[in-house]
Order: sequence, then C-alpha cells, then structure tokens
Amino acid sequence: MISKKIAEDLRNASFIRAMFEEGEKLRRTYGPEKVYDFSLGNPDNKPPEKVKKTLKNLILEDNPNLHAYMSNAGYPDVKAKVAAHVQNESGISLTGENIIMTCGAAGGLNVALKALLDPEDEVIIFAPFFVEYLFYVGNHGGKGVIVPTIKDTFEPDPAELEKHLSSKTKAIILNSPNNPTGVVYNEKILGEIAKVLEAAEKKFNTTIYVISDEPYTKIVYDGVKVPSLLKAFKNAISINSFSKSLALPGERIGYIAVSSAIDNWKLLIDAMTFTNRTLGFVNAPALFQKVIAEALDEEVDTSAYLKRRDMLYNHLISLGFECVKPQGAFYLFPKALIPDDVEFKNRALKYNLIIVPGKGFGCPGYFRLAYCISQKTIENSLEAFTKLAAEFR
Ligand SMILES: Cc1ncc(COP(=O)(O)O)c(C=O)c1O
Repeated sequence: MISKKIAEDLRNASFIRAMFEEGEKLRRTYGPEKVYDFSLGNPDNKPPEKVKKTLKNLILEDNPNLHAYMSNAGYPDVKAKVAAHVQNESGISLTGENIIMTCGAAGGLNVALKALLDPEDEVIIFAPFFVEYLFYVGNHGGKGVIVPTIKDTFEPDPAELEKHLSSKTKAIILNSPNNPTGVVYNEKILGEIAKVLEAAEKKFNTTIYVISDEPYTKIVYDGVKVPSLLKAFKNAISINSFSKSLALPGERIGYIAVSSAIDNWKLLIDAMTFTNRTLGFVNAPALFQKVIAEALDEEVDTSAYLKRRDMLYNHLISLGFECVKPQGAFYLFPKALIPDDVEFKNRALKYNLIIVPGKGFGCPGYFRLAYCISQKTIENSLEAFTKLAAEFR
C-alpha cells in the first residue's frame, strides 16, 4: 500500500522506535526513576526568561497581523535582525536578503536539499552522522555518500573526502559541534577541506555546496570557539535553529543563511523560498519568528550540561571506555566494549541503561549517550555503567 521507498526507510529507521518501546517497557516494569534513558537529544532545560517574557508581551499586544501569512522567506524585520546577528558572529557581510526563516534546522536542510538536488546527485555525509541525513537526501532524489572520519578524533578526513568526490557531488554536509560525537571542527581541518573541495570543483568543473548544519553552535565547553563555516567556505549555506540554543525544539524555528560569495546566490535564495513553500512549510511559525528576533543574543545555561558531561565522561574513562571528550553539543560517543554494538546495547539494557548503537549513526562498534537528562539520573546511572563494564573484564 505505501511506497516501496518509505517501506524501506521505515525498516531502516525501526531501531529508533524499538528503543523507544524498550524504554517504555522498562519504565513500566521498574518505574521511571530506575531507568537511565540516554537515547534522545531532547534538551531538558528551560528557555531563557527573555523568551517567555517576549512571548507574553507579543500575545498581549493584540497585533491583528501576528498570526497572518507573510513572505515565504519570513518577516523582513526578523530576517534583518538574524542577518545582523550572523554577520556579527561570522564576520561575513549579510543582509536580510541572505536569510530564509525555516521550520527548524530539519526544515532548513530539506528546503536546501530540495532546491539543490537533481536525481542521482551525490551528497557527502561524514560518519558518524545525524540519523536523518540519509532520509533527507533521499527525500529529494539525491544519493548520500558516506565518508569515514579520522579514526580516534572523528574529524572529517580530507584524504577520504577527496577519494569520494565525483562529478556528481553537489554538496557536502558538515555538522559542528557534531551529533553524535560532540567534536568541534577547527580552522585547520576546515581549511584542508576547503582546499580539497576547490581542487575537485576545478577538476570536475562543478560547484560543490557546503551545507553547514549548526544547531549546537551555542552549546560549547572549555572556552572553545566554533569556527564559522560561512567564513571557511565560499559556497557555504549555514543552517541553524533555536531548538537547542534556546531549548525550543517543539516550536520548529530556525533559519538558513546563504553566503553572498556563492555565484548567483539570489537565485538560490529564490529557489529555497519556493521550496519552503512547496514542501508545505509555507513559512516558519510567525509567533516564534517574532520571539527569537528579540532573543538572538540569549542562550541556555550550558553549565548544567558541562557538569553532566564531566560526571559521565570521567566515570566512563575510569571504567576503561575509550571516548573523545566532547567540546560541544550534549552527546558522548564511546567505543563499545565488544565489536557488536547492537549486542552491547542489549547487554546495557539488563542494567536499565538505554543507549543507542553506533550502527544507527553509520559507525558500528560505538554507542551514543545523550546527556541532556537530569544530573540525578546520570548520578544514579553510574553504578549501572560500572556493572556493565565489569561484565567485559
Ligand atoms: C545534527 C542535527 N541536525 C538537525 C537537527 C534537527 O534540529 P531542529 O529541531 O532544529 O530541526 C538535530 C536535532 O537533534 C540534530 O541533532
């Protein structure tokens, strides 16, 4: 009855649903406080006060246009404010014309891919990757090409990238800070990637767009600065959202910033404005465009995430796990204690630990822990990790 492609996608995505159901079963049996669910990247902290205040004021204002349709790219005044903010952060000159307001980063990624891809065009994705990328590329007829990252650091590997580029490569997706590894890409590695891309563009006489998926740029630790990809790449399309930075994932608000250095960038903006409409988003949520315009300099308190990262990371290292120390986002991606990460996930379940096998992120042999859950749950989970590790000594 349903499409063959969606039937196949459903099979590939079934592990997410299965994990959710396993979690529910454990919670029913043992009670929610005895289940340590590290599976979902749903921020547990609250939006900043400014967000709530702005929301209240907007509703009380009684503006008759507050809930109306607008340009498919978003409110001009909001786009101008977002442009000034991105310009300030990236050092790249932008105006409201460079911006499209979107339904989160997920909406933005689909809008960009729809505007760019012809059938069979290739999109480079570095593994491990955000689970949805392959589906998003597939949504628009493209083909995801998975490229391994550098062993032990999870940084994109310029040499591997070079091997996988072809005349069909239309775009690469970069995600820094990264889900699932928490790695932040430094300027040196970005410079090396830029050189590889420029050489490929010359060789194949093509343009390769860099789609920078950036929802975690505000969640960083240890004073790390996230280099701007708009600055690092000529053909950069930056896609960001307020899901994590303002803890508003359910409100579906984000934006695309297109670099003016892209040849014919205004045509790309027109195409994305059109795809925002025809994919059925029509426009980003009106009310939350207005809210974020007043809260662009706000961010959630990352000190709570930092505490949780340190507690969990230090404990895992003390137990002998190998893990890159994340500089951003709220995930750890340790190596499983046996090569079979799915079996390792099953063994963890015995201790009520819900973890996600690396296989789902295109990187078998590892597992992901989302530590955007309460400090108390993390504290309570430590003993369970100790017991799990003891099984493999
Ligand atoms: C890497 C990455 N990209 C995109 C998204 C989607 O974010 P949004 O809620 O802004 O659509 C997520 C959400 O978890 C993510 O981790």
